[in-house]
Amino acid sequence: MLTYAVTALWLIVGTAAAGLPYVKGIFQRKVWRTLLLWISYIGLALALLWFILMISQWVRNGWWFVEGIAKTILPIMLIGYVPLVLYTLPLLRRLRVSTADESSSDSMITTTDPRLLIPIYAAALASGIAAFHTIFSQPTLPGLLETVLMITLYLFVLVVPSFIVIRRYQAIMKGTFTVAPLWKRLLKFALAGFTTAIIAIGVVAVQAWSDFHASKLPEASDMMNHRWLDEGGGTPTMMTGHQDHADHANMVEVAKLTGDISAPADIHYELVAQKREITLASGAKIEAWTYNGEVAPELRARQGEMVEVKLMNRDIDKGVTIHWHGYNVPNAMDGVPGMTQNVVNPGESFTYKFRAEQAGTYWFHSHQQAAEQVRNGLFGSFIVEPSEETASYDEEVTLINHNWNTDQGEKTAFKDQDRVQKMQVKPGKTVLLRLINANNQSQKYLLQGSEYKITSIDGTPILQPDRLSDQTAFRLAAGGRYDVTFTMPNHPVLLKLGDSTDMEGPSVVFYGNLPPDPISFKAESSLFDPSQYGKPADLELTSVTRFDREFRMVLGNRLGFYNGKMNYLWTINGEVYPYTPTLVVKEGEKIKTTFINKSLSEHPMHLHGHQMTVLKKNGKRVPTPWVTDTLNVNPDEMYEVAFIADNPGMWMDHCHILDHAAVGMTLHLMYDHVMPSFEAGVRSGNMPE
Ligand code: C2O
Ligand code: CU
Repeated sequence: MLTYAVTALWLIVGTAAAGLPYVKGIFQRKVWRTLLLWISYIGLALALLWFILMISQWVRNGWWFVEGIAKTILPIMLIGYVPLVLYTLPLLRRLRVSTADESSSDSMITTTDPRLLIPIYAAALASGIAAFHTIFSQPTLPGLLETVLMITLYLFVLVVPSFIVIRRYQAIMKGTFTVAPLWKRLLKFALAGFTTAIIAIGVVAVQAWSDFHASKLPEASDMMNHRWLDEGGGTPTMMTGHQDHADHANMVEVAKLTGDISAPADIHYELVAQKREITLASGAKIEAWTYNGEVAPELRARQGEMVEVKLMNRDIDKGVTIHWHGYNVPNAMDGVPGMTQNVVNPGESFTYKFRAEQAGTYWFHSHQQAAEQVRNGLFGSFIVEPSEETASYDEEVTLINHNWNTDQGEKTAFKDQDRVQKMQVKPGKTVLLRLINANNQSQKYLLQGSEYKITSIDGTPILQPDRLSDQTAFRLAAGGRYDVTFTMPNHPVLLKLGDSTDMEGPSVVFYGNLPPDPISFKAESSLFDPSQYGKPADLELTSVTRFDREFRMVLGNRLGFYNGKMNYLWTINGEVYPYTPTLVVKEGEKIKTTFINKSLSEHPMHLHGHQMTVLKKNGKRVPTPWVTDTLNVNPDEMYEVAFIADNPGMWMDHCHILDHAAVGMTLHLMYDHVMPSFEAGVRSGNMPE
């Protein structure tokens, strides 16, 4: 807003200043010149305010939040504003006190001085660029080349107005200048403005044209960005360093990274991907894409068991896969088409086999065109019971919520229950709720009528979880899971999705004898904070002082093209996939990643195949580091997470708002001794987003 206002101001000042030599009458002249000076002061003050806001963001959030602006917009603002302060303002001030006649040559020379006029146009254009960039494109991590190019284009747009101003000045100096009639002057001015606008539009159009072409996805790719291998400041890896024969012998293909699956399966499931019409509890109908014709089927296993899941595709045209979200399976079982396997087309099958090492609440979903397929229903829950019962519960309920597109509009539901569900539980019984957010955005939950505990986050148990009051709400990232426990009191306990005020969302009533009617919720008084909960676990990563590699992922947004279509893009380090960097690590290393969200939306960042330990939030150590596979990063937030590179392969690292990932918010983590086995793109039909 600020930068738009400043741009408008300078355009007014520029127009008025161009007309300076033609103002008639002592009084008008005085008013005109005084106004001009004051509007200029206001413009300058607002520009200064912009600068102060930028500095304050730097101080508040850190350098990474302003780096892009500081490297591209700031130089342009300086080019526009420094001459303005040095020349324009002094000249305007002199003019205001001058008593010379407007037609006197002295006044003519001052009012047409290019040093008076050109800086005003330069400031207007600079502010315009700043305005454009705050909304449509937040520059991130530009290279020197980009900065130089931007400045060059900026100066190029200024050529026409400068030329006209200088020509008029020269005519006056030579004494060949004559005052043309008003209509002629206006016409000339309009023409100059028009030409400049055309040039500016031309510059933008040429850029857009080249962006459009560059945005087309390759027909086939190994999903790595060979031009931007980010080694996180660590020692050279085999990817970029020299490979000798010994190294070569250690190379391994993704397809070979199955883990040891020679043992027979302890448990076997079959999932048939198929279209099916589903009716929600409210009667709303969905043209769903399902596994086994069910809404969110549940697969269960016991920790330590060898799990085998045969996936068959009946009629999902573009093919399907299964990705085990949050489960650190060997790479070849990760279910990413084009990266860890080929997509399973209609009539085909693929068998996943892995040992269930982690206990807890997980889920699975197709990773082929994930944004569309998960939205349509290709997901389910995956529950692994611990090998030794540490705590047992009388009742256990899995609640997986999703947003459905139905014939009656959008509906949120736990599975297919989009209304109130009632469950009878005897008072005194203990209840375990396994909550899974399969929606495409973070969700708030309320549990009222009993104190409760959050006993695990993303499958990892919390040490000594504190009791939470029933006025505490909690929020799950898209793709995240919490285990929640409570003891049934002798009155009802209510669970709902969304705010206390909106009774639209689905809810669950646990009751002893008679279900209450109607049900109502109190307003929550606080929000659960995982960074201060329970006892800090003795995690290997929290005491590390030097990491082998440190990566930085700046999350931004900009208007642009993705695969030839105009889109609002969600960027990582200023780029969208496949231009995002490929992060390279060596097996066994300790890695730190910093997420910096300068965009306008939350981004639940999900790394496949590994768990992340949250170390810092907004630069400060968190009192209770927690383990997660899907970390929600809100706008203006910065998180530092760490993980151990202990699962060789090629892994996706992306935003779990799957529509963001589908327009580029994704990159890959690559172990340096691993070679791709598959290709993605239209040629193979492997389309992981
Ligand atoms: Cu649940 Cu790659 O995602
Ligand atoms: Cu996102």
